[in-house]
Amino acid sequence: MAGKITPSMMCAPLNQIQHYIDVFEEKKIEYLHIDVMDGHFVPNMMLGTSYISSLRRLTSIPLDIHLMITDPEAKLDWFDIQPGEYVSVHYESTPHVQRALQGIKNKGAKTMVALNPGTPIEVLKYLLPDIDGVLLMTVNPGFAGQKLIPQGLDKIRDTKAYLAEHGYGHVEIEVDGNVSWENIPKMAEAGTDLYVAGTSSLFTDKMSLEESVAKFRSLI
Ligand code: DX5
Ligand code: ZN
Repeated sequence: MAGKITPSMMCAPLNQIQHYIDVFEEKKIEYLHIDVMDGHFVPNMMLGTSYISSLRRLTSIPLDIHLMITDPEAKLDWFDIQPGEYVSVHYESTPHVQRALQGIKNKGAKTMVALNPGTPIEVLKYLLPDIDGVLLMTVNPGFAGQKLIPQGLDKIRDTKAYLAEHGYGHVEIEVDGNVSWENIPKMAEAGTDLYVAGTSSLFTDKMSLEESVAKFRSLI
């Protein structure tokens, strides 16, 4: 099955948002990745609730909301989550991760648990019945433009095997962080389903956006 592309909208220059959206719609980009950072769980602040509602007025591409915030279970109502969208909550961000996943499911959205680079995949064990996907961070969350933590590639492979061994082979794997031209083939080979496209690929001015999307598709 071909992978899906989810461009990281925090990387889109403000004065070109409309252009990016036009091309993403024309090229049938599957999701838009929205990084929400609270300056507490991660050392940065990004993409707030009014940005999300403005973006929803510009496009009907479904969102893939990556919550890097503490206690997300108490804040889900802030994001106007729509059925069929992806919402990720970090395992490390709350003692009530199962409650957060349940809250996402109640909104009809797809439940994703996100893991920081240093978090072992075994923590997924008792969450498996509650998740549609796992978001693996291949950099420490908070900033675009970082270098891949190399063991992240083994972690994708191990997660794929772990899910299959436990009878959850249908659970999707999303990869976020330095998804670059060089790393995409390795991430694909390791078992990635959803690719977060940031400054390492689509958001570069080295080629046109149309060409970048075509190159991305050819690599996955
Ligand atoms: C954080 C972000 C970043 C980034 C990805 O969750 O999603 O990882 O925008 O893009 P790169 O790493 O290619 O700049
Ligand atoms: Zn992200």
